[in-house]
Amino acid sequence: MNLPAWVERHADLSSRNTLALPGRAALYADITDAAQLALLREHPMLARTRRFVLGGGSNLVLDGDFDGLVLHVANRGRRLVAEDADAWYVNAAGGESWHPFVLWTLENGWGGLENLVLIPGTVGASPVQNIGAYGLELADRFHSLTAFDMATGAAVRFERNDCRFAYRDSIFKRDGQHLEGRYVITDVTFRLPKNWLPITRYGDVAAELDAHKTKAPSPQQVAEAVIAIRQRKLPDPELLPNAGSFFQNPIVDAESARNLFALHPRMPHYPQADGRVKLAAGWLIEQAGWKGRSLGPVGMYEKQALVLVNQGGATGTDVRRAMEAVRTEVSTRFGVQLVPEPVFL
Ligand code: EPU
Repeated sequence: MNLPAWVERHADLSSRNTLALPGRAALYADITDAAQLALLREHPMLARTRRFVLGGGSNLVLDGDFDGLVLHVANRGRRLVAEDADAWYVNAAGGESWHPFVLWTLENGWGGLENLVLIPGTVGASPVQNIGAYGLELADRFHSLTAFDMATGAAVRFERNDCRFAYRDSIFKRDGQHLEGRYVITDVTFRLPKNWLPITRYGDVAAELDAHKTKAPSPQQVAEAVIAIRQRKLPDPELLPNAGSFFQNPIVDAESARNLFALHPRMPHYPQADGRVKLAAGWLIEQAGWKGRSLGPVGMYEKQALVLVNQGGATGTDVRRAMEAVRTEVSTRFGVQLVPEPVFL
């Protein structure tokens, strides 16, 4: 039994990851229908084949060739599915691009996702690491999702609490599940509040709105402010390949935080509900001398030290080398261990 014709062999992945790293997938399939997943799951030639679920490739470090099957979620569609007194419920296919989806909700007058504009990637990938920016996380607007379970062949529905959302984390990342390609997220439903209030507590957003003398911003105006901030600080992957923030902001216990402030009183810090304290990885990296510094073809961006950029021709090995150099220097200087945000394949 041959593989279906829509399974590509030796597929070039270099244009399918926003860091533009070279690598090929032994097998690659654009998935537009759950029936394809059912077929691949049962195919005798694929019984022992590793799988990886790919969205927009914007959170991925490709470490050379992948000797397995890449499932590229490519289904499309978005619609209003329900409405009650409090909210609109909007559903989008996993393969929809995130940013155009957010713009579409805003055009329809459904506010709620505006702080998350311009984040690269797809709707289906957004819950995996619980994308967040400027005071809002995906979890705050999430209603439910459908995933195809490659282990059982069933379509499974996850409500908000099932997803165990945390800072850049969800059940889909636990225990390396995202690396085993178990759940393929096929669509996501968002709950967008009718009683909308702008989220402007993040300093940069407040300052941007102030600069335009915007007092009671609309969702569109918040989106415009966020777009302006992002365009100033974050490199466009089309022009300078990158994967957004390369490290998570580290969360340390209260005592470690106190010790660090004693030595570095200007260190930015964000107290968490559980008493721990989140630190700014970008600040730590800048203080360690890595803002705008490179190792080979890989550097930390000159305007935002948390963003690792491929200045041209980098490989996964170059990325690892630079990553380790940054981690070592931050650890030596501050005793803080940085954890990378992207997935390594
Ligand atoms: N900072 C520096 N030097 C730098 C970068 C930052 O000193 O080179 C300082 C800033 O001055 C500020 C603090 O660090 O005091 C935080 O910086 P910023 O507001 O730019 O945010 P971030 O912590 O670097 C996080 C998210 C971003 C998100 C922004 C806005 C993570 C890992 N990153 O970045 O998310 O857009 O906040 O909410 O949580 C992403 O995950 O890919 C991403 C871009």
